[in-house]
Amino acid sequence: MMPETRSVLVTGGAGFIGSHLADAFLAEGKRVVVLDDLSTGQASRVPGGVRFVEGDIRTFDIAGLLRAEKIDTIVHHAAQIDVRKSVEDPVFDAEVNVLGTIRIAKAALEAGARQIVFASSGGAIYGDPEGFAADERHATNPVSPYGVAKLAGEKYLFGLAHGTPLLVTALRYANVYGPRQDGRGEAGVIGIWMKKLLAGEGCLVNGDGTQSRDFVFVGDVVRANLAAAQRRVGGIVNVGTGAETSVTALYELVAAACGVSKAAARGPAMPGEQKRSVLDVTKSRTALGLTDLVPLPEGLSRTAAWFREASSRA
Ligand SMILES: NC(=O)c1ccc[n+]([C@@H]2O[C@H](COP(=O)([O-])OP(=O)(O)OC[C@H]3O[C@@H](n4cnc5c(N)ncnc54)[C@H](O)[C@@H]3O)[C@@H](O)[C@H]2O)c1
Repeated sequence: MMPETRSVLVTGGAGFIGSHLADAFLAEGKRVVVLDDLSTGQASRVPGGVRFVEGDIRTFDIAGLLRAEKIDTIVHHAAQIDVRKSVEDPVFDAEVNVLGTIRIAKAALEAGARQIVFASSGGAIYGDPEGFAADERHATNPVSPYGVAKLAGEKYLFGLAHGTPLLVTALRYANVYGPRQDGRGEAGVIGIWMKKLLAGEGCLVNGDGTQSRDFVFVGDVVRANLAAAQRRVGGIVNVGTGAETSVTALYELVAAACGVSKAAARGPAMPGEQKRSVLDVTKSRTALGLTDLVPLPEGLSRTAAWFREASSRA
């Protein structure tokens, strides 16, 4: 039997998903170190009891940190996550998401870390799916520089780890939502709508509203990471719900979670927007034991409660 994971490095641990991961690994009794440059993250989100190191994955001495902190597992979530920004500045996107990821792999090999769990994107890597839902063997046809960089990140991690003891698991997330999210990210629309609805403002649904996504609650993404690290899964695993929700249906659920009955106005279709996206999650059930997912109305009501509380604090 492999020894248990003891020290964990969460890159991007001051961000939305990463800060939940830091909480969860800490609650599991692990030593947790967070590396984050605070470009979008907030130091206040890093839980007490976690060693916080401010640094940029493009330049920081990651191998030195891994050795000094005796890190066994790296949960790599630091990234430039804005798809539109990746179109405007693909060089910057690749510097963080490709070169930064290569630096993580090289440091892990140099320092003898045993595994990397990588936050990849099922929403962005498969492109417009050829059949529903997309499983892990689906063709990869990313339509944004962000998706290309996430795919390249995966390939570099697997390529560099090949023939070494370093284990790599790439978790391809669907659209992740939940407390601490904002208006960026692949489920950013939930944050945008909740803020507006709770402030009494109207919302826009772009296009005809039939475009669809797979929305997965952040708590389930955290469970996937814990299982991937604990079971030393390896390979590629989709993390989503397998349920397809149209943007119109999502708006109704978000409005209900906010206790508002206002209809949304129609906005123009977003050029180049992917029409449908839903992940086949069969493998996550078997490889990660990821069952009993939080239903969308329940997850949205927890998210709305957080937005309500955050706005009362502001
Ligand atoms: N949110 C989603 O729906 C979603 C879907 C698929 C994949 N992902 C991936 O999950 C991960 C976490 O996403 P998130 O939604 O929590 O985003 P986030 O922006 O809240 O978190 C990213 C964190 O990385 C930090 N960071 C950015 N560049 C850095 C750098 N150069 N060096 C060090 N730290 C840096 C930021 O300060 C931030 O705290 C990302 O890798 C993202 O691509 C997210």
